[in-house]
Amino acid sequence: MSKNKNNKPVWSTRIKNNRSGLFIKAGSSINVDKRLFKQDIKASAVHVEMLFKKKVISLQIKNKIIWGLKKIFNEIKKKKFIFDNKTEDIHMAIEKRLFELIGEDAGFIHTARSRNDQVLVDFKLWMLEASDDIVKEIDTSIKVIIKIAEKNIFTVMPSFTHLKNAQPISFAHYILAYVEMFIRDKKRFINNKDNLLENPLGVAAVAGTSFDIDRQYTTKKLNFKKPTGNSIDTVSDRDFVLDFLYSISVCSNHISRFAEEFILWNSDAFDLIKLKDKVVTGSSIMPQKKNPDTLEFLRGKTGSIYGNLFSMLTILKGLPLSYFKDLQDDKELSFRSFDQIKICLQIMREVLNNFVVNKKKMFQLAETGYTTATDLADYIVREYKYPFRKAYLITSKIVNIAEQKGKQLNQLTEKEIKGIDKKLNEDVLKLFNIENSVKSKNSYGGTSFENIKKMIKKYKKHG
Ligand code: ARG
Repeated sequence: MSKNKNNKPVWSTRIKNNRSGLFIKAGSSINVDKRLFKQDIKASAVHVEMLFKKKVISLQIKNKIIWGLKKIFNEIKKKKFIFDNKTEDIHMAIEKRLFELIGEDAGFIHTARSRNDQVLVDFKLWMLEASDDIVKEIDTSIKVIIKIAEKNIFTVMPSFTHLKNAQPISFAHYILAYVEMFIRDKKRFINNKDNLLENPLGVAAVAGTSFDIDRQYTTKKLNFKKPTGNSIDTVSDRDFVLDFLYSISVCSNHISRFAEEFILWNSDAFDLIKLKDKVVTGSSIMPQKKNPDTLEFLRGKTGSIYGNLFSMLTILKGLPLSYFKDLQDDKELSFRSFDQIKICLQIMREVLNNFVVNKKKMFQLAETGYTTATDLADYIVREYKYPFRKAYLITSKIVNIAEQKGKQLNQLTEKEIKGIDKKLNEDVLKLFNIENSVKSKNSYGGTSFENIKKMIKKYKKHG
């Protein structure tokens, strides 16, 4: 009978039974990688189909194994499967149960494969699904942002550079900047699929196998694009994990920058937006407080998401080729980042659906800080054919006068501006109108109301 009956690992024939109980528990990954049971069973089923097709195993054994795998799948689904943390990992747990169910014939399942390629095929299959999941979450978030933009095309606010008022923009234009970021995020996950779609199954431990296997068959049946090309690289490669963790980090970075801006704008000092009660938290001592904890949560989680990427980079640094136990952590890091980015995208949407724009304050702030000065400089270049640098100098003198007199630019008199350059007249004062300034920025990608309308249409079609 199989060794598994005695509850020993399959590889225990040469290792005496005085192993560290502490390490058996600590080194077990079952509580993490049990998440891969579906992929593990699917890949095993395809593997034995292939072994049968290539006449490595008989029809009877193949059928027995498939029957056992299906039974195990149902047991796990119905929560009747016992995940014992004395079992090393999900692969061993399933194989052990297969022995219990069908006896020694279970041992044929591991012909021409190793856990080194097995874990990779499971993990890549999981990551393909996870990437689609994230793309869906991003898509839903993009739709929410577009709705906000549609309602705020004519909401004018200042843009900031160095956090100083820069030029008037539409709030829709600002929020649509995040659509661009999320579209790039989506692309990253989609591009990652190129590498994910290379099938590792069949490279076995490190050298390949002497069995006459058909890797094209398993590739097709598991919906991969092609088999990986080098057995050593295959078992060593965790680039796809880095790509995944990096893509999540960048997406999280976008969420964090959004969170930071909204925290600032929701502050009493800025007062540009107001979070609704659904997404704020109170203080345990100050009864008046409504704190933006949701946004702080998003910003904070970015730290641990980056941490997962850095952990993986560090694990790989200096690791010789092929498999080492060090690599086992790749799954925990990926699962954690995946769970966190999903919840972050969902919470971000909760915030986006629960805030009010303070249009009045936005407009007032756009009028503060001489935000239309550049419009005058541009006008002088266009109308008087001055070089931009000369126009810039004239404009800065006008800003100086306004500052000295405590006036806004449109409150200056003709006499005051003529003092700087004789050509200037009252027409110029129209330039200082905030909405005209926004309207005038109609270069492709600019903030003009017309551009925004076009961009919203485009995002709705191709977003
Ligand atoms: N649980 C292991 C991991 O996730 C599976 C691969 C084990 N391979 C080995 N040679 N010990 O890395």
